[in-house]
Amino acid sequence: MKAFIAVLPLVLRYAEAIPRPQSQSERYSSEVTASVTATSASAPPTSTPSTTAQNPCAAISQIYAQANTSITNIRVPAQLAYDCLNDVPLDSASAVPWLNTLKPYIEWQSTIAYLKNPPKGYLEPAVDVWGGLQAIIDRVSNGKYANEYQLEFDIYRLFQSTHDGHFRYLPSLAGGVFAFGRPISLVSYSVDGTEAPKPYVYSDVLSYFVNGSAVPSPVRSIDGQNAVAYLENWAQYGSLQDPDALYNNVFYELGQASLGASGSGAGTFAGGGRGAYIFPGNTTTLGFENGTSATFSNFARLLVPFRNITNGTVLYNTWINPYATRTSGAGGNVAAATNSSTPTSSTTVVSSSTRTATGTPRPGYPSPVISQRNNYVGGWYLTEAGYEDVAVLGVQSFVGTTDFQSVVYDFLDQASRAGKTKLVIDVSANGGGTILQGYNLFKNLFPAILPYGATRFRHHETFDIIGETVSERIYYYPYNYTNPPNPVWQDFAGGTPFNYRADVDVNYENFDSWRDKDPPNTIYGDQFTSIIRWNLSDPTNTPANGVQVNGYGNRTGLPPTQPFKPENIVILYDGYCASTCAIFSEMMTQQGGIKTISIGGRPNQGPMQTVGGVKGTNNYPWTFIYQLVSDTYELAPDQAGYFNSTSLYDYINPATYEIPYLRAVANSGQVNVRDGIRQGDTSQTPLQFVYEAANCRLYYTAEMTVDVTSMWEKVVDVAWGGDKCVQGSVGASGKAGNAKREEMEARSNERMKKRMLEMTLDKAAALEESLGLFTDVSGIEVQHGMMLP
Ligand SMILES: *[C@@H]1O[C@H](CO)[C@@H](O)[C@H](O)[C@H]1NC(C)=O
Ligand SMILES: *[C@@H]1O[C@H](CO)[C@@H](O)[C@H](O)[C@H]1NC(C)=O
Ligand SMILES: *[C@@H]1O[C@H](CO)[C@@H](O)[C@H](O)[C@H]1NC(C)=O
Ligand SMILES: *[C@@H]1O[C@H](CO)[C@@H](O)[C@H](O)[C@H]1NC(C)=O
Ligand SMILES: *[C@@H]1O[C@H](CO)[C@@H](O)[C@H](O)[C@H]1NC(C)=O
Ligand SMILES: *[C@@H]1O[C@H](CO)[C@@H](O)[C@H](O)[C@H]1NC(C)=O
Ligand SMILES: *[C@@H]1O[C@H](CO)[C@@H](O)[C@H](O)[C@H]1NC(C)=O
Ligand SMILES: *[C@@H]1O[C@H](CO)[C@@H](O)[C@H](O)[C@H]1NC(C)=O
Ligand SMILES: *[C@@H]1O[C@H](CO)[C@@H](O)[C@H](O)[C@H]1NC(C)=O
Ligand SMILES: *[C@@H]1O[C@H](CO)[C@@H](O)[C@H](O)[C@H]1NC(C)=O
Ligand SMILES: *[C@@H]1O[C@H](CO)[C@@H](O)[C@H](O)[C@H]1NC(C)=O
Repeated sequence: MKAFIAVLPLVLRYAEAIPRPQSQSERYSSEVTASVTATSASAPPTSTPSTTAQNPCAAISQIYAQANTSITNIRVPAQLAYDCLNDVPLDSASAVPWLNTLKPYIEWQSTIAYLKNPPKGYLEPAVDVWGGLQAIIDRVSNGKYANEYQLEFDIYRLFQSTHDGHFRYLPSLAGGVFAFGRPISLVSYSVDGTEAPKPYVYSDVLSYFVNGSAVPSPVRSIDGQNAVAYLENWAQYGSLQDPDALYNNVFYELGQASLGASGSGAGTFAGGGRGAYIFPGNTTTLGFENGTSATFSNFARLLVPFRNITNGTVLYNTWINPYATRTSGAGGNVAAATNSSTPTSSTTVVSSSTRTATGTPRPGYPSPVISQRNNYVGGWYLTEAGYEDVAVLGVQSFVGTTDFQSVVYDFLDQASRAGKTKLVIDVSANGGGTILQGYNLFKNLFPAILPYGATRFRHHETFDIIGETVSERIYYYPYNYTNPPNPVWQDFAGGTPFNYRADVDVNYENFDSWRDKDPPNTIYGDQFTSIIRWNLSDPTNTPANGVQVNGYGNRTGLPPTQPFKPENIVILYDGYCASTCAIFSEMMTQQGGIKTISIGGRPNQGPMQTVGGVKGTNNYPWTFIYQLVSDTYELAPDQAGYFNSTSLYDYINPATYEIPYLRAVANSGQVNVRDGIRQGDTSQTPLQFVYEAANCRLYYTAEMTVDVTSMWEKVVDVAWGGDKCVQGSVGASGKAGNAKREEMEARSNERMKKRMLEMTLDKAAALEESLGLFTDVSGIEVQHGMMLP
């Protein structure tokens, strides 16, 4: 979700007075080559390398020293990695001071009150975040943690269990040393599109399509447990808020694979996305319905060099907390030690996939008519007889790039000129991106509708003081963004929430004062700002967000005609849709009246939600919050004494301010700051907690796991061809569900045969290659505000 930089492009301009926190990865960036796309599928198998070392960390160090390959290709047995993590003694002296430094950032999380006592309609368990943090502090104080890893994993889980992809914190030991994985990817599909889906090993499915091998046998058990129950549990380690969306994320999926290292790899079961942080056991044993079973060795990839790491203590002192001895009492040394005069901004790291000149591979997809180079967005025409009037817009991300907006505009324009009358918008794998990119796509399709897009922040002392100060000191708005009276003003442009002169209210009218924008209102036992909407006419939006929404600024001259009739548009979801994708979805369904189809999910016959990812409408990286506070000091230097007496001091306290960054994986600290609120909802329930089923639910079938066109054709069949959904219906025309079942089955069988005939060795090789994908969070440009996988 776009975020901050969309709003404020200042990451590079850190205030001189206050040294910027340095992340752990910066300290060893010279030693670690950013993990490129992945280890290829043909990478070394996880044989257990022979080591003579007794200590698990020393054994890994020995493997590391003997490996004649780059660190990204080194795999060690999962058990060895897990044992090494557990060899790190608890640093109880550092723990409580560290946990206390998380509190100022948690204050920004907008949904805390709702998480503790979720409204009806929210499908995940309640989480008392403050209580959970206190419980961890108590456990530390009472000596209940046997080692450091147990503590750090608990901290990670506290954030993860909120199932809010914008609320994230990954302590270094929990996710910065090893990435766990399994050498097998699963898919889940229904044999006929109607029967409940079952899990299968993806390489069996590929062999079937490529080599005509035996029909794959479903996975019946995993490590002795019922396979579906096991996978539903495993799914709960994901970041999404819907159980069906979480279930889909366990499996290999073409949409995710098309995002390369920015997606969730080959599924969380294989170690993609959030799966990398969970120890999968030493081995995985699959039992198949045909009565056979197979055991696989699980592995861990190294994320830090293991040179001379002879035990857990050395690991801790080298990579996790080199300043442990200094943080207790003499925090000033921390800043000195990290040499704040030469910071490189971790947020400027560009993902390797973004740099790929030739573009990211997109296995299982046909050649696009037009495509953004990272596969964030692309356009296709269906070519099969009977489908020639259909255009497909694949929007796998809203992360804004210079070519994103023109790809969307040009494709819709070309498609309608080419006589395409129907549009499938496939938002599979879409974790969000630049907020205004979502508004822009909506305005491309509905030029005459003013997007609603209501948002709301949580009111707390720091938020209020920043807003009061900014509103007072930046006394006019908008200003010349490229040449402001004071450079720090640049950080408060592009729709900043902190100036009452920016943004518009619930009625799309200007606010009168800071109190008008932040009264605050008491709702659900917590305090919030007024409803805030983006002022799309704000001229500072474009330079700050990198996108000029269609119909505004210099994009007013574009053809105003609506390229597709609403009844001829359908949106396809795999549940992953989050953040900016959720914003887009809300406008399309609530304001545009567009029908929705969700695919996949757990093996039940019920409805499935559309948006399964976070529906909060803005995340702030913690580094950005730190920046906001230091900017506030810079705007009003005369108030520093007052600020020091308030909660603002907690963010800049020289003794502690670096701790949350030093102890976590770079950029992992994020909060959801804005709730999305539905038009007309007087209760102002955050959309995150509002249940919303798709009009129609489908199951994946086998051919859809190797060729995305077969999924799109099925979507067209149910949307406009009279085919049936597993549950619900999309038929605005009233035709849906009328087609003869035999006819539809025949069509499915045709598709399956066709995919087998069309499966060339090249296509198969590309799919196999993508099984080696892993998520590279360090490469994702967080300033684009995507929900991290
Ligand atoms: C490492 O690999 C390179 C290239 O494959 C080879 O030339 C070299 O001899 C190897 N070194 C060792 C120590 O095995
Ligand atoms: C198909 O068979 C060939 C030859 O045995 C093999 O190399 C290839 O890996 C197989 N492909 C799949 C997807 O099983
Ligand atoms: C049973 O099914 C598994 C999974 O598809 C397959 O690998 C195995 O070869 C099959 N075994 C037999 C005897 O059919
Ligand atoms: C872990 O699995 C490997 C084989 O993958 C085996 O050699 C090793 O003994 C196992 N370790 C433990 C502790 O079970
Ligand atoms: C690792 O240890 C060896 C032997 O103890 C030593 O010679 C070497 O300098 C150490 N390397 C580093 C990078 O500390
Ligand atoms: C870990 O290794 C270091 C360096 O070899 C050593 O000084 C220390 O005693 C070891 N700690 C434990 C708990 O074995
Ligand atoms: C900090 O970095 C500067 C520039 O690279 C260097 O000259 C200086 O010696 C460093 N200071 C410390 C304490 O490492
Ligand atoms: C903003 O300032 C820049 C740099 O001085 C100048 O080129 C530009 O014309 C100004 N824009 C406006 C709208 O005044
Ligand atoms: C939105 O921004 C424009 C440009 O700054 C401004 O003229 C207008 O008053 C603002 N508010 C509304 C409601 O349009
Ligand atoms: C609008 O202005 C921006 C910045 O000057 C420019 O890059 C873009 O091409 C313009 N767009 C149109 C549609 O003219
Ligand atoms: C505010 O706190 C900072 C950090 O401790 C300190 O450097 C500064 O002098 C303080 N300012 C005032 C006016 O007290």
